[in-house]
Amino acid sequence: MRISVVGTGYVGLVSGVCLASLGHDVICVDKKTEIVNKINNFISPIFEPKLEEMLEKVIKLKKLHATTDISWAVKNSEITIIAVGTPFKDGAIDLSYIKESAKEIGMQLAGKNEYHVVCVKSTVVPGTTDTIVRTAIEEASGKKIGGFGLAMNPEFLREGCAVDDFMMPDRIVIGAFDDQSFHVMAKVYNTVFDDPIIRTNLRTAEMIKYTSNALLANLISFSNDISNICESIGGIDAIEVFKGLIQDKRIVVKTKGEAVFPGLTQYLKPGCGFGGSCFPKDVKALVTHSTAHAYYPKILEAVLAINEQQPSKMVEKLEKLIGDVQNKKIAVLGVAFKPETDDIRESPAIKIIKILLEKGATVFACDPKAINSAAKELESEFLVLTNDYQEVLKDAEGVLLITPWESFIRIKPEEFSRLMKKPVIVDGRRVYDKLEMESHGLIYTGIGI
Ligand code: UDX
Repeated sequence: MRISVVGTGYVGLVSGVCLASLGHDVICVDKKTEIVNKINNFISPIFEPKLEEMLEKVIKLKKLHATTDISWAVKNSEITIIAVGTPFKDGAIDLSYIKESAKEIGMQLAGKNEYHVVCVKSTVVPGTTDTIVRTAIEEASGKKIGGFGLAMNPEFLREGCAVDDFMMPDRIVIGAFDDQSFHVMAKVYNTVFDDPIIRTNLRTAEMIKYTSNALLANLISFSNDISNICESIGGIDAIEVFKGLIQDKRIVVKTKGEAVFPGLTQYLKPGCGFGGSCFPKDVKALVTHSTAHAYYPKILEAVLAINEQQPSKMVEKLEKLIGDVQNKKIAVLGVAFKPETDDIRESPAIKIIKILLEKGATVFACDPKAINSAAKELESEFLVLTNDYQEVLKDAEGVLLITPWESFIRIKPEEFSRLMKKPVIVDGRRVYDKLEMESHGLIYTGIGI
């Protein structure tokens, strides 16, 4: 099929490249010439495993082309996917790029006789596609809906494994305005995947996306709430509590003596909070949107409040062990919001570094991928950003593990002891073995103990 994708951020580019590799003819559209040139020259503007190799392949096969010309892209495709950003502004998501794209697509549809489906992939609050998007297209095209198709097809892509998530989907949700829109969209996927397609109306598809992220964020904040209770009572390690919890036969699946833990249990673990471009923004947007519709979601509000306080707990724990951090060198392992990404958006590490700097510490922070992004966000003469963890640990009086990169998990207790001035470690992801650390003379604490 001939598909144009408007917006070449994480969602747009991964979707475009994957759709092209599935055999579709894809045109990616972005307003920025610099990004378009990069894509056409096989360079991915974002870091995402496997993406660049696939990008090069599909361009060489002439299955994908990038352009700034939306008019050409819409004319030469039968489906246009909207994958532009929905930045968070004044407590809600800003739908202006969505509106603008819908209008631009509508203007092109005015002069097009062929049936065309517009599909929203960006995460938008329920009710956006069938009101704002529909109206913008109708007004700009002069056509009534039905004369063009409308669909909402949310993405469930995790950064760091977005390509695999796209190529091996667990579900494909297609919210469709009518049968014709649905059948066109279903053809994009059902020629290549056996997975069931879940058909809904437009706003239900939008709500499925929010509900998925809200549940995962809930599990994280629930874990942190329980973990904070354990800490307050004392003498309980939250990690052991969760180990006991997940053995419940309603959670674990045991076949032939082998235990299989559902992926959801990975989110049932104490930590220093969730971040990224989705969970914080999506939960906040849902709270605001729901409140505007006269329902105040108390659980989700608590999910955000718990998440807000987790980063500062890391610093409090450190201070309990070393006292005031002022004028002390503190090491921070990890800046990205999670491993395998260079994304620092809403990363707990950024909040933690800011708190440490405010308290007068000298901070040495390390990350294998996110140093450049962090340098744009954080600036201080008391901050050193590097990808050399040994430099960070050297002579430090305390270390905080924030992002569980494999290279940090592999650091041996002897190395902490040898390099640090005072081997005090606060484990924000509970990746180290307490007893092993202590047996090497380290002073160890972590979230949940
Ligand atoms: C998320 C959703 O998972 C994805 O389906 C959706 O489309 C976009 O938002 P992403 O933000 O990339 O994807 O990351 P995810 O891996 O789910 O992590 C989100 C947060 O949860 C991170 O802060 C991460 O540290 C935390 N997390 C993740 C955990 O605490 N434990 C885990 O096992 C995984």
